[in-house]
Amino acid sequence: MKEFLERITEETAAAFAALGYEKKHGAVTISNRPDLCEFQCNGAMALAKQEKKNPLEIAEAVAGKLRENKDTVFSEVSAVRPGFLNFRVKEAFLADYLGEMAASDRFGAPLAPKKKKMIIDYGGPNVAKPLHVGHLRAAIIGESIKRICRFAGHEVIGDVHLGDWGLQMGLIITELHERKPSLPYFDPEFDGDYPEDAPFTIGELEEIYPTASARSKEDEAYKEAALLATKELQEGRRGYRALFKHILAVSVADLKKNYQDLNVEFDLWMGESDVQELIAPMARRLKEEGYAYESEGALVVDVAEEADTKEVPPCMILKSDGASLYTTTDLATLQWREDHEKPDHVVYVVDKRQEMHFTQVFRCARKTGIVRPETELTFIGFGTMNGKDGKPFKTREGGVMRLSDLIADIREEMKKKILDSGRGATEGEAGETAKLVALSALKYGDLSNQAEKNYIFDVDRFTSFEGNTGPYILYTIVRIKSILRKYRETGGTLEGARILAASGEGEKELMMKAARFPEMIRSAVADLSPHRICAYLYELSDAFNHFYHENRILAEEDEEKKKSYLALLVLVRDLAEQCIELLGFSAPEEM
Ligand code: ARG
Repeated sequence: MKEFLERITEETAAAFAALGYEKKHGAVTISNRPDLCEFQCNGAMALAKQEKKNPLEIAEAVAGKLRENKDTVFSEVSAVRPGFLNFRVKEAFLADYLGEMAASDRFGAPLAPKKKKMIIDYGGPNVAKPLHVGHLRAAIIGESIKRICRFAGHEVIGDVHLGDWGLQMGLIITELHERKPSLPYFDPEFDGDYPEDAPFTIGELEEIYPTASARSKEDEAYKEAALLATKELQEGRRGYRALFKHILAVSVADLKKNYQDLNVEFDLWMGESDVQELIAPMARRLKEEGYAYESEGALVVDVAEEADTKEVPPCMILKSDGASLYTTTDLATLQWREDHEKPDHVVYVVDKRQEMHFTQVFRCARKTGIVRPETELTFIGFGTMNGKDGKPFKTREGGVMRLSDLIADIREEMKKKILDSGRGATEGEAGETAKLVALSALKYGDLSNQAEKNYIFDVDRFTSFEGNTGPYILYTIVRIKSILRKYRETGGTLEGARILAASGEGEKELMMKAARFPEMIRSAVADLSPHRICAYLYELSDAFNHFYHENRILAEEDEEKKKSYLALLVLVRDLAEQCIELLGFSAPEEM
């Protein structure tokens, strides 16, 4: 199904062609003077220059041709100084387009011209550390991009890419050793089976790590022990590997719960530790093939390019003590992905402060043939979530906010608002509804900003039912649902109902917004930008509410007209629900 603007453009292009001009001059855009017209075409201007003619004359000739067509598409065509064409579309033409959208299972949204296999690397939580707000944006944005790409028809794999291979593991092992020295994991002589259950709970683990981390900063010997434990773990010490498995299992179970609360799901739960085996052969190959060389003991690959305006340091493959680094695991992970999945496109959704890291990794992977030349690599760097003071978001006490606390706070706030709204929800109902609405507040508050921009996390604003917020969007959807429910409850049925030509301004305005869905989706897919969906949803919601206040829907006496209103409502509800599904949240039935 063609986009609405394409449909109109076909008409104008044909008129240009009928006058012997190239079709390309017929491109139609949304009007930037909505007070004058709905759509416009500026093609006569460029054409006039080329043909050395008067633009207004050309525009008038095109307008004349268009009027001959007995107005199938346009209800109004005018040529205005100095040579613009202004249009209004016929209400019936618009209604037919919406009818087609409603009948299409994708509401007319285009499928990507070429289906790709994609991997989206988002999340990036670090094992044994509680999920904190720093990982919130990755999860929210990455999940939405994954859904958008799937909707476009791509095959998409979401990978959490755990940070599970660093010093934090050695720290935990060291601290555990001090606390429970008699555990078999620490006995080098032990050759039996290790216990199946972890010797700690998630609560303990979350306390052990910060304790160990703080201690290592003051106690040199302790730090040495942790470094040694990390190295021994990486070299495969049996007891440490067994402990590592426990840490991973306990931690991942907790992470899964957290992500579930966010409605975020990964297909792959791989981590840095999964590609350890690939590192040695990769380093060897890079050395043998002359890509990597030793510099001050470390193994590096040059990745600077002539056109660089900023220095891009060499990409480090191994440290002088042979240990691997963050770049190493990312390169080895790309190797794994090539070997096992052969993706056409890998997308990273990570804090934009890591941009240099990814520049180095991408260049190194290309230069050394870790990825094929045609593999697309994209870094989507997001800005920081700041507090009202404009500084990175913290708890009231100034610490790093745990994600679970943040979610609990917003749920509480939403629940209060729902109970206060006086719609008579019980505590229990309000609590359940609050979960959905809180998620919309959190996600929409984030996604409505361009990803690369910083934004201010403002609970009061995000949870408000008014303005450009998630709760406002849900409130609109719920309002539509409730009208449709009332209609059904009074015995109404929408069988055979069609969207008819609009008879009022607000109705047409709403229909025009709805018709832009396919084109909006195409651009959201093209630049992987959920914020376009938010902007669309906000406009659609505003248009709906305007229509709602202007018309009496269920009280409409003309039965045909009433059904048409309701059919339009069904489409608007479906479009809005499709949009929020792509953003990663859903709407309750009532609120
Ligand atoms: N674990 C990292 C951190 O917390 C983020 C990982 C991002 N993904 C990646 N492939 N490097 O900063």
